[in-house]
Amino acid sequence: KRTVKDLDVNGKKVLVRVDFNVPRQDGVITDDNRIQMALPTIKYLVENNAKVVLFSHLGKVKTEEDKAKNNLECAAVRLQELLPDTKVSFCPETRGATLENAVAALKDGEILVVQNTRYEPGESKNDPELGKYWASLGDVFVEDAFGSVHRAHASTVGIPTNLKENAIGFLVEKEVTMLGKAVDNPVHPFIAIIGGSKVSSKIDVIDNLLKKADKVIIGGGMAYTFSAAQGGKIGDSLVEEDKIDLAKEYLEKAGDKLVLPVDNVIADAFSEDANTQYADAGQIPDGWQGLDIGPKSVELFKETLAGAKTVVWNGPMGVFEMKKFAKGTEEICKAISELPDAITVIGGGDSAAAAKQLGYADKFSHVSTGGGASLEYMEGKTLPGIAIISDKD
Ligand code: 3PG
Repeated sequence: KRTVKDLDVNGKKVLVRVDFNVPRQDGVITDDNRIQMALPTIKYLVENNAKVVLFSHLGKVKTEEDKAKNNLECAAVRLQELLPDTKVSFCPETRGATLENAVAALKDGEILVVQNTRYEPGESKNDPELGKYWASLGDVFVEDAFGSVHRAHASTVGIPTNLKENAIGFLVEKEVTMLGKAVDNPVHPFIAIIGGSKVSSKIDVIDNLLKKADKVIIGGGMAYTFSAAQGGKIGDSLVEEDKIDLAKEYLEKAGDKLVLPVDNVIADAFSEDANTQYADAGQIPDGWQGLDIGPKSVELFKETLAGAKTVVWNGPMGVFEMKKFAKGTEEICKAISELPDAITVIGGGDSAAAAKQLGYADKFSHVSTGGGASLEYMEGKTLPGIAIISDKD
């Protein structure tokens, strides 16, 4: 793919799709990682005298109330704090004279942040008129919203469809390089660890990784569906009844490539105040539910990880948001981060949040900024926001 370095941006109006979809509490940004990760591209464009126009979505916008809750101005304010020597302005509109005048007023090396792209109902539908209109505002397009490249929306796909002078930015380049090294060209042994609550949301990633990895470790809530498929007693643990047959199929075809928990932390309620004890896998009494992997599973998973040269981790091992059930995730996170000479990649979402909360995030080779996007990458799917970008000349 063409990267931003292959473009002539001097004096040009450069439209950039970034992912500023940041978590907030009462309107205050609680984690600006995604803004920080977009800085290399933004700084490069500023230093090379581009007029920089940033597009991003924020949250889901269905009603007028959602608009007020998801005003992108907070991200523009944060960006200005991060770039004190650069002029950053914000346009509260997504189209019309206000936006067109703001773009026209930009000087070389200045930044304009456009209001939340999802204020436009045509954004998520990739309305051709909208992509064409936004494309008409600039000379060049840069795709740097890795977290959004799995969405074929007007701002991710519609703009570059209409603007052939386009390229990927440094964040997308880094994500694709690191995820590619891990999933497509892994140094073996390659161990994948997949957790999270639902088999249904992870079956495609398990399927693809079983083809590429030496072992696929399963943890988290979905392990109980596998346990049920083996005929185990899972008490009141989370289970997807309609996925038990599928789990059986995978257990048969994967054999010992799939590594399942051998014990669990079980609780008599889904609560921080619950009574807890350990139980071997498949022996959870009624009235109890598994909420974390147990110490024997931690040992087994650590043994499986020993000597790994590539590790991909997606999804927590238990309900890590509650302290009582965070230990499994913490131990595994620590074990991965301490592997010598391994490429270690966290595929976004909950596991990235867990690593950050537990203080290990900077010990990994790469923590993806994409949740859905990194999952789809690991499933082997084409990401439309990247596919649309022109190849190197
Ligand atoms: C994300 O947070 O994964 C991306 O920003 C995409 O957000 P979406 O799921 O609302 O499209």
